[in-house]
Amino acid sequence: MDTKFDSYFVVKAKENGVNVIGLTRGKDTRFHHSEKLDEGEVMVVQFTEHTSAVKIRGKATLMTPFGTMETEED
Ligand code: TRP
Repeated sequence: MDTKFDSYFVVKAKENGVNVIGLTRGKDTRFHHSEKLDEGEVMVVQFTEHTSAVKIRGKATLMTPFGTMETEED
């Protein structure tokens, strides 16, 4: 399998209404999916053929291969 698909990370929402937004791979970079998480919900995210970047909106903890980090408050 292509190595660009290997990386997973975890998003844990620290408030209601956190958005996990997937951006498309390729020439056009646009939103293709927005998933809403409520406080305490966890989403395991993978990069795929269709998704090359992810934007997190709202207060959340991200656990990535690079470490654990928090989004800033709005
Ligand atoms: N259908 C999307 C895909 O295969 C699902 C997805 C994967 C996704 N990673 C994501 C959606 C990250 C939002 C954020 O690429």
